[in-house]
Amino acid sequence: MRLAGKHILVGISGGIAAYKIPELIRLLKKAGADVQVVTTKNALEFVTNLTLQTVSGHKVYTDVFAAINEHSTEHISLPDWADLMIIAPATANILGKMAHGIADDALTTTFAAMRKPVLIAPAMNTNMYESPATQQAISTLSQWSNISMLDCAQGELACGTIGKGRMQEIDTIVAAATYALTPKTLLGKRVLITAGPTQEAIDPVRYITNASTGKMGYALAKACLKKGADVTLVTGPCNLSLQEWQRFTPLTIIPVTSAANMYEATLSAFATADISILCAAVADFTPTHTATQKIKKQPGQSSMTIDMTCTIDIAATLGQQKRKEQTLVGFALETHDELKNAQRKLQSKNLDMIVLNSLQDAGAGFGTDTNKVTLLFPDGTQKNLPLISKEEVADEIINQLI
Ligand code: C5P
Repeated sequence: MRLAGKHILVGISGGIAAYKIPELIRLLKKAGADVQVVTTKNALEFVTNLTLQTVSGHKVYTDVFAAINEHSTEHISLPDWADLMIIAPATANILGKMAHGIADDALTTTFAAMRKPVLIAPAMNTNMYESPATQQAISTLSQWSNISMLDCAQGELACGTIGKGRMQEIDTIVAAATYALTPKTLLGKRVLITAGPTQEAIDPVRYITNASTGKMGYALAKACLKKGADVTLVTGPCNLSLQEWQRFTPLTIIPVTSAANMYEATLSAFATADISILCAAVADFTPTHTATQKIKKQPGQSSMTIDMTCTIDIAATLGQQKRKEQTLVGFALETHDELKNAQRKLQSKNLDMIVLNSLQDAGAGFGTDTNKVTLLFPDGTQKNLPLISKEEVADEIINQLI
């Protein structure tokens, strides 16, 4: 799990967006983190102590003056315990206090003692957000080396107006927390990833495609982004998004449709890539001619034939162009003679590693959230991974390349 073993302290101040924080805590815990909560008194007007205690599995720290209980020095011990503090929502009031070193409640005293990374997600009415005092507080806090300040989002606000001031979505905060907690082992590296299926047009309304959903390729992109890489994702049509990663990492997404589009986009990004991971399920054949009008069924017609031409093998082309310092990784999805076929592709395409997917295993392959793969290397060695989430598979693949 991507946040396994991490200690996260969630600080909640008194804004309406506080009602979303139990979901943030749930997702952080689902990713493996241990989560404790500190709130201002006003926060508990929007979300109950019992809810926070139940989802976090810990007592909630709200009263710095409750001296005769186990929380009496928690404003000192919690910052020591935490690997990361997330303050969400951060109101205009709490931003102003934190920027000026005011420590007069459980949240601000804890923040004042926090020397490790802090992620702040402000949320307030547009006029409060735009006020000089708030802007100055945000700018002051943003300069501190341990602080990552998320921008407010544009949209409908609880007060009924539309403008800037919404707290970032919970998925964005989770992605930012993951980013803050991951060592930047790919900093300065350019990674090119292909993902998803291609669509080969028969006529303006029909195409040939395959069952790839893009989940493995997008998981690889996330694994590289959280490690600080500069990622270019060439993606076939997928119902997936990396929007939550886009605001704090260098990410270029190039959407393509056909194998020919994917070839062009991948080839032009390859020259500057340090690592290229070709995860897309590229069509091997494409209709030789695409009809300009919808093909009509003729009266009495009982069959139809589509003449197909082989597409260019992107992996093999890049394998020929590969420079010594570049790393090229491919995937192989096999239904029989798996190891033999994968080894042959590893060599013929001049890859540095091939990831063998088997359709034989339940929970592996297209559309699932899990995968069971074998990693094969040119020196003949191989590594069998158990059935794990595609995010964990992605981490394992990347760890082999660093
Ligand atoms: O030969 P096969 O299609 O099984 O090889 C799979 C590997 O080759 C994958 O990494 C896939 O992304 C890549 N490939 C490609 N261009 C093609 C076909 C496959 O890059 N036209």
